Amino acid sequence: MSIIFDEKKRIFRLDTSDSSYVIKIYNEGYLLNLYYGKKIPDCNLSGFETRRRNASFSLANPVIGETSFTPDTAPMEYGCNGAGDFRISALAVRNADGNSVTDVRYRSHRIYAGKPSIPGMPSTYVNSDDEADTLEIETVDSVTGLTVTLVYTVFKSVPVMTKSVRVENGSERELVVERAFSCCCDFPTMDFDLVSLWGSHACERNIERRPLAHGVQGVESKRGVSGHSQNPFAAFTRHGSTEESGDTYGFNFVYSGNFSALAECDHNASTRFIMGINPTDFEWKLIPGGTFYAPEVVCVYTDGGLGEMSRVFHRFYNNNLIRGRYKTEKRPLLINSWEAAYFNFDSDKLVGFAEAARELGVEMLVMDDGWFGKRNNDKCSLGDWYVNEDKLEGGLAPLIERINALGMKFGIWYEPEMISPDSDLYRAHPDWCVHVPGREPLIGRRQYVLDVSREDVRENVWNQMYEVLSANKIDYVKWDFNRNISDAGSALLPPEHQKEFFHRFILGTYELMDRLVTTFPDILLENCSGGGGRYDPAMLYYSPQIWTSDNTDAIARLDIQFGTSLCYPASAMSAHVSANPRADYKMKGAVAMWGTFGYEMDPRHLSDEEKELFKSQVRDYHRYYDLIRYGDLYRLVYPDRSGAAVWEIVSPEKDGFLLNIVTVCSFDYFRLIVKPRGLDPEKYYRNDSDGEVYSGALLMYAGIDCSNRIWGDHSTCVMHFMEVPAPENE
Ligand code: DGJ
Repeated sequence: MSIIFDEKKRIFRLDTSDSSYVIKIYNEGYLLNLYYGKKIPDCNLSGFETRRRNASFSLANPVIGETSFTPDTAPMEYGCNGAGDFRISALAVRNADGNSVTDVRYRSHRIYAGKPSIPGMPSTYVNSDDEADTLEIETVDSVTGLTVTLVYTVFKSVPVMTKSVRVENGSERELVVERAFSCCCDFPTMDFDLVSLWGSHACERNIERRPLAHGVQGVESKRGVSGHSQNPFAAFTRHGSTEESGDTYGFNFVYSGNFSALAECDHNASTRFIMGINPTDFEWKLIPGGTFYAPEVVCVYTDGGLGEMSRVFHRFYNNNLIRGRYKTEKRPLLINSWEAAYFNFDSDKLVGFAEAARELGVEMLVMDDGWFGKRNNDKCSLGDWYVNEDKLEGGLAPLIERINALGMKFGIWYEPEMISPDSDLYRAHPDWCVHVPGREPLIGRRQYVLDVSREDVRENVWNQMYEVLSANKIDYVKWDFNRNISDAGSALLPPEHQKEFFHRFILGTYELMDRLVTTFPDILLENCSGGGGRYDPAMLYYSPQIWTSDNTDAIARLDIQFGTSLCYPASAMSAHVSANPRADYKMKGAVAMWGTFGYEMDPRHLSDEEKELFKSQVRDYHRYYDLIRYGDLYRLVYPDRSGAAVWEIVSPEKDGFLLNIVTVCSFDYFRLIVKPRGLDPEKYYRNDSDGEVYSGALLMYAGIDCSNRIWGDHSTCVMHFMEVPAPENE
C-alpha cells in the first residue's frame, strides 16, 4: 500500500512514485497538513504541527487550551470559514441558523486500492486497481451535521496525487454550500514563484512567473467556462528553480466552469493554496441527505523543475485522463474548411478541398461552421441543427459518399450550447436562452447561450444531433463554444437555486458530451471555444484533442504552444498549417507538427513546390507520430528569451529524438549552441540530415553549434537523431 496510517502517531503518509504527503489527526480531530514534497521514509514532523507567531490575538480551542496551537496559523488540511482560521478558506457552509461558521473534524477513514469516479463529472482514472491507492477521510461538523469527505488518490508510477471532496448533509435541516474547494495545501514557506497561464482570444496560455507576496494572489474565471483569460492551472516552483531542477508543485483543475486558484501568504511566511469552483455566484442547496461533489484537482510534485512537471502531466493525461478509441489509435490527419472558406462553401467546393488534400496525403475533411439552418454568416441559425440544402444539395449523405469515395473520413462542426436569436429554436422557445427576469441578455458573436442546465433543452439539442450523427457516416465532431456566460440564470430554477446555475450548466454540458462519446464511441471529438477558450483537463476526458488557438500564425503559436505544453500533452494540442502570411510553410509545418497535426487552408491552388513540401510534411507526420505522441518534451529555449525557440522530443526508450529550432528574430542571437536534454549519455546518436554521429554525453554537455544551420528571421531547422552503435574508434 502506498498509503500508510500510523495509529500511534495518528498520521497518514501518502506516497507516489517520488513524493510524500503527510496528514496528522491532531487533538480534537483537527486535520493538519504536515508535509508535501520529495518522498520521505519517516514522519517525525512534530515541529510542523504549529507555527509560532500569531498574527494578532491567539484564538484557542477551549478544550485544547491556550497552547501554541491555534487554527489561525496551524497547517490546516482543509481550512474552514469562521472558526478561528482567518486565511482563505476551502469550505463555508451556511446552516439553518443563517450563519456560515463551519468547522469539520476527523471522524473516520478508509483506505483502498484503485480510484473512485465522481458522479456526473470527469476525473482521471486508473487502468487497473493496482495503479493507485485511495484514502477517504470523513470529517464532520458536530454542530450542523455537515459531513465532508476528503478523497485522495496517489499513483504508484508517477508523482501524481488527486484530490476531490464530497459534501453531505447529515442533518435534518437544510444547508447551503457557499464554497467547497477541491484542494487545500498548507506549505510551511513562501519561497516560491507562482506560475500561471494568462491569455486572450488568439493569444492563449502565456506563461507568467511571479514571486509570492504576502496576502492573497491567484487566478480565476467568472466567465461560465474555464476561459481564455486564465487557465485552471497553477504551479509553485521554488525561487531559482529552472526547467531542469527545483521543487515544483503543479495543480490543474479538472473542471470547465468558473474556478479560483488562490494562494495566501501570511505573517509566518507560510502559504495556503486553494483550488476549486469559484465561490462568486455559487451556492448549492443541500437538503437533508443531499450530496455535493466538488471536482478533482490533479497535483504533481517533482524536484525536476517545470520541465519534469510538464512531462509528468503529459504522461499522466495520456494514460489516465484521455479515453476512448483515440487514446491509442492514430488520429486522422485532417484538413479543416474554416480558414479556407469560412461560411462560403457548397458540396462541390468541399469535395474540391478533399480531392486536393488527398493528393497530399490528408486523411479527413472537416466541414466547419456554416452547414446548418440558414447559416451563411454568424448572425443566425445556432440551434437549428438540420442541413442547409441550399449549400449541401441532397443533404449530407451524398457529400459524405463523395468524400469517402476518395478514401477520406468526414468530420462536422457543432456549437450545441448556443442559440441564435434568429433561429427556429429561439422563435419556438425564447425562454431557452440563459437569462434573468427583467434584463435583456447581452449578446456575443450575435448569439445567446442555450440553457443546457435544463433537461428539456438538452433533450432537444441531443435529439437534433442524434438525428444527423446516426443517419450519416461521421468520423469526427468539432464542438465549439463562442461566447462567455452573462445574465446567468435559468427560467426553470426557483430563486433559492439560481446560484447553482453556473455549476448546473457545466454538469449539463458534461452530460451532453458523455452522451455523444458513449453513443458514438467511434467519433473523434475535438473541443474548441473560439480557439482555446475551454482548454482544461475536464474537456480532455471527453475530447482527446482541443483546438489550441484561432491564431494559426506560426510565430504567435510558439508562445501559445510553449505555454500550453506546461501541463497539456502534444496529443491534446491541435495545430494546423494555414495560409497565414507571416512565416513560410516549412516553419508552419515544424510548429504544427508539435501538436495534433493538420491543415486549414484552400489546398486547390498550391504550387508544385508547395505540394512537394506538404507531401514531405505528411511523410514526417507519419514517421514521427509515435515519437511526438509518446515522447518526452524538453523546452530548451523559450521563444521570448532569445531570438530562437528550441524544443526537443525524446523517445521513452531514449533511442531517438527530434530537435526543432525556429528563429524568431535573428538579430537577437549571434551564436546558437543547443544542448539537448534527457538523452542517454552512454548511447550514440546519428543526425539523419548529415550523418554525423555524437555521444549522448557530448550532445548534452557540449551541445551542437546550430548557428550555421539557421539563417535570418523565421528560419527553421528540424533534426532527427537515431541511436546507432558506438563508433569503433571511440
Ligand atoms: C471558432 C473556432 O475556433 C474556429 O476554428 C471556427 O470553428 C469558428 N469558431 C467557426 O465559427
